[in-house]
Amino acid sequence: MFSKYKKTNAPAVAKPSVQVVDNIAAFEEPKASVSMRKALKPAAAAPVDKDVKRKQRMSDIKLELHRALLDNLNLAALEHATEADLRQEINEISAEILAEKSIVLNREDRMTLNSELYDEVTGLGPLETLLKDETVNDILVNGPQQIFVERDGKLELTDVTFKDERHLLRIIDKIVSAVGRRVDESNPYVDARLQDGSRFNAMVPPVAVDGSLVSIRKFKKDKLGIDDLVNFGAFTEEMAAYLQAAVATRLNIIVSGGTGSGKTTTLNALSSFIDNAERILTIEDTAELQLQQTHVGRMESRPPNVEGKGEVSPRDCLKNALRMRPDRIIVGETRGEEVIDMLQAMNTGHDGSMTTIHANSARDGVSRLENMIAMAGIEMPLKAVRSQISSAVNLIVQASRLQDGSRRMTSITEITGMEGDVISMQEIFRYQRVGLTPDNKIIGHFTATGVRSHYAERFRMWGYDLPSSIYEPIAAQ
Ligand SMILES: Nc1ncnc2c1ncn2[C@@H]1O[C@H](COP(=O)(O)OP(=O)(O)OP(=O)(O)O)[C@@H](O)[C@H]1O
Ligand SMILES: [Mg+2]
Repeated sequence: MFSKYKKTNAPAVAKPSVQVVDNIAAFEEPKASVSMRKALKPAAAAPVDKDVKRKQRMSDIKLELHRALLDNLNLAALEHATEADLRQEINEISAEILAEKSIVLNREDRMTLNSELYDEVTGLGPLETLLKDETVNDILVNGPQQIFVERDGKLELTDVTFKDERHLLRIIDKIVSAVGRRVDESNPYVDARLQDGSRFNAMVPPVAVDGSLVSIRKFKKDKLGIDDLVNFGAFTEEMAAYLQAAVATRLNIIVSGGTGSGKTTTLNALSSFIDNAERILTIEDTAELQLQQTHVGRMESRPPNVEGKGEVSPRDCLKNALRMRPDRIIVGETRGEEVIDMLQAMNTGHDGSMTTIHANSARDGVSRLENMIAMAGIEMPLKAVRSQISSAVNLIVQASRLQDGSRRMTSITEITGMEGDVISMQEIFRYQRVGLTPDNKIIGHFTATGVRSHYAERFRMWGYDLPSSIYEPIAAQ
């Protein structure tokens, strides 16, 4: 079944008889078969034949039963049926059909089958088990036959599949129609928040070339807090103490990072340091933040509808938020023209505001901000733009997902002002990588850079007198 993922040994392209050499080193004597490159990981071994056959048989039976079930069930009555009743009904009908077709299954297979049928009828079919699986963070569907999940920061191919594209489309349709949205050929993509808070994005053919693409970021009821993140090694106790001082003393903070690097999680955790007496307004595309404070107003921007109307952009929300007497504004992600209002808010009395951006380092983050301002059509000399950024943003926290799947705060950098035309920055903490274990786990440690915070005096004045020892670098063990 998965043979298409198996690597074949035969070379895909025949070797050319004349090799073009464009590198002097290549003229050297070839060194037998010793390669400088690391051997690639072998493709996952194909599942045992017997297992594959069993799964295939179960999938055929399920398909047949599902059709028969839909013929037999009164779908209109389903809405009012209790879960127990419906399960009972499904068990009975499926037992009948199995007997009719003389199919004998053991108890375990029968139970799995019935529960999958239940999911199929009421829920999201093959996705249901993955949605229930607590260890799964993200679900990524690349067409009906390929579903990946992310566990512990690593992507894994699952053996869950849809029957065909129509089956996948039916489930997508079920999901989006439940939240009042539509997706079809003329409106081929959708970004929505599901009822349980999960973030859902889908794109259907013909824009999605090989079958519908779906990505789901599952909503975690218990967001990771500062302590969890320290325990997971995302940052250290010292960094947490520094961040607490930074948030409490109302520095403006940007969390920068790549896709899925933990930006929202970090933002959420940082917000726990905000005083409960403050009025916080949050603006997100999809409401993911879970603030612990009592005085929180949450806003969600809205894309235009099929006719291109009804859009409420993040910028609209932000402009409105500024009229709502916030103490702090938290924008889930700044990616467009709202950057102007965000920086202005940070500069004019809403200290302690926070947002995230997609960038790979603090320096890159600043360039991203500059680009966003330019793209928003603001005609301002670069120096003025930079000066605006440097006076608005105090701190850039870099979140990264490293190659071994671990997520860490790889840098905390302060913006200290301008030197000529350049924004000056100083890194206070960083994650120092030193190597890789044989099983590809990253070896490294967090360290201070030895630079004392530009805001140390401010921290002290506000009652966060951090010991100077937290700024001392830690030598590699
Ligand atoms: N330090 C961590 N350790 C383990 N898991 C983490 C850590 N930080 C975040 N996660 C998990 O990683 C997933 C992605 O995190 P998050 O949503 O914060 O990323 P993001 O950068 O905001 O993603 P996106 O770019 O899609 O908005 C979540 O399921 C979250 O629970
Ligand atoms: Mg996010």
